[in-house]
Amino acid sequence: MNGGMARFTDTFLNELRSRVSLEEIVSEYVPLKQKGRRFWGCCPFHNEKTPSFSVDTESQMYYCFGCHKGGTALNFVMEMEHMEFQEAVRHLADRVHMAIPEPTYQGTRNNQTSVNSQERERIYEANVIAARYFHSILWTNEGAHVLSYLHSRGLNDADIRRFGLGAAPNGWENLILHLKEQGYEPQLLKKAGLAVERDGKYYDMFRGRAIFPIINAQGKVLGFGGRAMGDAQPKYLNTPDTPVFNKRLGLYALNFARKERDVGRLVLVEGYMDTVSLRKYGVRGVVATLGTALTEEQAKLIKRYAPEVWISYDGDSAGQKATLRALDILEEQNARARVILYPDGMDPDDFIKSRGIEAFNAIKPMDAYEFRLLRAADGLDLSTQDGRTQYALTACEILKRVKNPVELENYVTIVSGRTDFDKEILYR
Ligand code: UTP
Ligand code: MN
Repeated sequence: MNGGMARFTDTFLNELRSRVSLEEIVSEYVPLKQKGRRFWGCCPFHNEKTPSFSVDTESQMYYCFGCHKGGTALNFVMEMEHMEFQEAVRHLADRVHMAIPEPTYQGTRNNQTSVNSQERERIYEANVIAARYFHSILWTNEGAHVLSYLHSRGLNDADIRRFGLGAAPNGWENLILHLKEQGYEPQLLKKAGLAVERDGKYYDMFRGRAIFPIINAQGKVLGFGGRAMGDAQPKYLNTPDTPVFNKRLGLYALNFARKERDVGRLVLVEGYMDTVSLRKYGVRGVVATLGTALTEEQAKLIKRYAPEVWISYDGDSAGQKATLRALDILEEQNARARVILYPDGMDPDDFIKSRGIEAFNAIKPMDAYEFRLLRAADGLDLSTQDGRTQYALTACEILKRVKNPVELENYVTIVSGRTDFDKEILYR
């Protein structure tokens, strides 16, 4: 998540490649059996019962004859752990106890880079301590009202622990003082988005809120979402952009999603509560955006976790509009998307609480164009000729983008059924 134009030298990368053992790394994920110079096992990237995944001990490359994925140890770690190149390099270097040279950033001086990376480490540390602190407050008098709020939202203590939820106490500088005792200055906490500065004084950013820690796939605490108690505004306060956090780049609950690559699809929801609630009821692969509309970067990230995503936004009109936008963004990134439609303006949290997991599992997600065609009818009265004409025009505009002739035929049939226009006319 802390991208950049970093480069490691070839000498360093070659040394790294020669030190790591691919068969050793792979066997931490799947059992391998040796046959000659190759090791064989079931592919960790797709579901299979008979081994078609092989590791060549000499070339130190892997290849799956089933899904045709292949590459070096670095590729393996990137794919398996959802890491960017740089993170994978660091991860492997750590394994073989190689010192990591600070990558040279184009256009930035080296010592500057290292100052920045030290600061990022400090922010991560402060965030972990803050997360533990918020969590511990829940079990004290100061956090009792937040604990009972979370209970009232249907969560039990085990759920609360699993998601590391917490409570920010009401005062102005509880967290600041707690972190100061451990050597973290308010200036740093401001950079971490944990404190705000006003007239030279520092105050806690999060006060009197339920806290949802945002943790990335590598287990680092990037920031927090804070739910107001009662009607305080804003309803959710999120960590602003910091050196370790950018809400446009990340997703909530990736720390869980990284262990769930076998599900084959992500479920994308709007809110922290929706994520926690669906997961509590046993839905896997659930992630959420972080208080923004879905971005291009998040669409790319989603693709790295699963071949398909089910958009599961609120059933109200805002949620439905956001779904249409998200579909376009996912389509631009060539990510396969479907839509889960909730009745009566419900959100996923309302739905699963009132109807349960069986009802959720029974929902058949709609494909993107089915959904667009459905929403195109909003506000039109299809019982009038005028409404049907308007709908046919809008629908045809939408369907111009469908390239597959078989799919197109299906959609045109639907539109023809809704409008009484001949398919021939619609095609033209
Ligand atoms: P919603 O308003 O739909 O919240 O916002 P919700 O998930 O239903 O919340 P509950 O159930 O009332 O607690 C969805 C998401 O939009 C972002 C948050 O990420 C939230 O989870 N959001 C919302 C903000 O960032 N700020 C806000 O003030 C409101
Ligand atoms: Mn809600």
